[in-house]
Amino acid sequence: MAQARLIDGKGIAASLRQRIGAAAASLRERDGVVAGLAAILVGDDPASDVYVRGKARACDAVGIASFEYRLPANVGIAAIGELIGKLNADDRVDGILVQLPLPRTLDPHLVVAALDPAKDVDGFHPINIGRLWGGGEPGLVPCTPDGVLMLLRSVSPDLSGADAVVLGRSQIVGRPIAGLLLAADCTVTIVHSRTRDSAAICRRADILIAAIGRPATVGADWIKPGATVIDVGINRLAVPERGMTLVGDVDFEAARQVAGAITPVPGGVGPMTIACLLRNTLLAACRRRGLPDPDLPGA
Ligand code: GUN
Repeated sequence: MAQARLIDGKGIAASLRQRIGAAAASLRERDGVVAGLAAILVGDDPASDVYVRGKARACDAVGIASFEYRLPANVGIAAIGELIGKLNADDRVDGILVQLPLPRTLDPHLVVAALDPAKDVDGFHPINIGRLWGGGEPGLVPCTPDGVLMLLRSVSPDLSGADAVVLGRSQIVGRPIAGLLLAADCTVTIVHSRTRDSAAICRRADILIAAIGRPATVGADWIKPGATVIDVGINRLAVPERGMTLVGDVDFEAARQVAGAITPVPGGVGPMTIACLLRNTLLAACRRRGLPDPDLPGA
C-alpha cells in the first residue's frame, strides 16, 4: 500500500494567519478596532515562557496588539483575580489567556472561571465548555481542538458518520476534540488510561486522534488501513547522535505505511494552535461589539 498523504499543518496554518492578518486590517480600517490579546504567565516555567513569547510574535505579525502580564510563582488567588478583573474591564483587551500549567498552589478551574467568557480565547471557561457540549451555537472553542478539526476537514470536508476515536481525555485537548467531533456528527469514542484493549478500539477508527503525551505509543497495529491519523503529541526526547528531538504520540514511520493521511510532528497540529488563538481573538473582538464574525474557517 502507498504511504499516507501528509497533512501540511504548517502550510494550512500559514494561509490561515494570512487571512487573519487581512481580517484584522479590515477590522482596523472599517471599524477602527485594533484587536488585543492579553497573556498571563505565572512563575517561570521555561516551556510556558517560550509559548507566551511565540504568541506575542504571532500577534505582531498579523496586527493584533499583545499585552503580557508576568506574576511570581507565589502569587495569591486574590491578586490574580484582581488582574483578571482589570483585563475583563479593559476595552483594549479582547482576549485573555492564562498560560497553563499554573503553580500547584493555584486552582486552574477557579482562575479560569474568573475570566469574562466573551474574552476566554482558550475556550476553557465553564460557559464555553457548556456551549461546546450543549449542541447549540458554540462560543469560543479551544485552540488546539479547533486546529485539529480544520486539519481533518482539509482531508475530508464532511466528517458526518465517521467512526472517530480520541486517545486521551485532557481538559485542554482530548475532551474538547471529542465535543467538536460529536458536533460534526462523528460517532465518538474516548480511549483513556483505564480503557481495556485500547489498540483494538483504535483499529476501528476512520479518524484517530492521539493526545496522550506519550512518545511513539500508537503503532501500525493500532491503525485501520486508510484511516486519518492526527498526532497532537509533542514529546521532547533525547535521541542518541541526534540530540533533543520532537516526537509525537504516534510511531510516525510505522503509521504512515498503514494510514491514509497523517500529520507529522513537528509541522502538523503545533502551528495550528497559535493560528486558532489569533482567530479566536478576532472573533471575540467582533462579537463583543456586535459586529459580524470575520470570514475565517474554523468551528
Ligand atoms: N498550556 C498548554 N497548552 C495551552 C493552551 O492551549 N492554552 C493555555 N492557556 N495554556 C496552555
